[in-house]
Amino acid sequence: MMPPNDDGLYHDEVGSWTKDKYRLVSLYDELFSTGMKGKWTRVYVDLYSGSGLARVRNTSRFLWGSPILALTVRDPFDKYVFCEKSEDSLRALRARVQRLAPAADVSYVQGDCNDGIEEICALIPSASTSQRVLSFCFVDPYDISTRFSTVRRVAEHYVDFLFLLALYMDANRNAAHYADPGNQKIDDFLGRADWRERWAEAQGEGKVFPRFLAEEYASQIRTLGYRPVPFHKMKQIRSDEKNLPLYHLALFSRSDLAYEYWDQVLKYGNPQRDFPF
Ligand SMILES: C[S@@+](CC[C@H](N)C(=O)[O-])C[C@H]1O[C@@H](n2cnc3c(N)ncnc32)[C@H](O)[C@@H]1O
Repeated sequence: MMPPNDDGLYHDEVGSWTKDKYRLVSLYDELFSTGMKGKWTRVYVDLYSGSGLARVRNTSRFLWGSPILALTVRDPFDKYVFCEKSEDSLRALRARVQRLAPAADVSYVQGDCNDGIEEICALIPSASTSQRVLSFCFVDPYDISTRFSTVRRVAEHYVDFLFLLALYMDANRNAAHYADPGNQKIDDFLGRADWRERWAEAQGEGKVFPRFLAEEYASQIRTLGYRPVPFHKMKQIRSDEKNLPLYHLALFSRSDLAYEYWDQVLKYGNPQRDFPF
């Protein structure tokens, strides 16, 4: 793949730990797209796609963003759907895709993915007796504003999810505020309002809010027919400078094979180890 450089278009600014996220996500993209090739029509959905290029803050180092990583795998997906709220980001992404992967089948949705979820789902090809469709949906927000109703709607398809759970940056900082009964934020995130009683109990047992929320999330996703995911299978990403936890990457699937891929990602996703291809 072409090395990422400043191309004069709008780009995102990220912390240096973002390279860890990109490494894990691109390993999973590779395993999924190659492993499912020929068996399924493979669809990549990025609900928070960004501009496709990011500069590491206070450096001149550039990194490809998640849409470009997914487009440049060895065995590209059959279809891509990119949603992005910011017009500037989406314009830059379109130009990059045109330059780097002009032949790819790509659809763009500009706006809030929660509001645009029907439009997004309509772009996922329908399954039929002659076409089995399997999607991989990357959900990478800055905060916990992805509504569970959005996830539930996507999960009406056959789809694996990789979530960035921004449990420290957003949820932990605002825990007291969000626990206020008048505040709907976590109700919308979890798709249920009865978590406050369980949080009071968990707090009594010494549990911290990010872990509580991660486990609540996994149990909610389970109600959609997904396999159970224990907390230790969620990959914690920490900031390089202060070594503070920032978020967890969590894979959710209805198939054991996806978890085998995820285990490989966790094994080879360590920068000290080389991936075997
Ligand atoms: C963490 S960045 C994601 C970057 C990208 N996934 C990557 O890894 O390169 C979050 C992106 O989501 C966009 N965004 C924020 N809220 C959104 C929403 N409700 N719907 C869609 N995009 C949103 C932001 O403009 C930003 O580009």
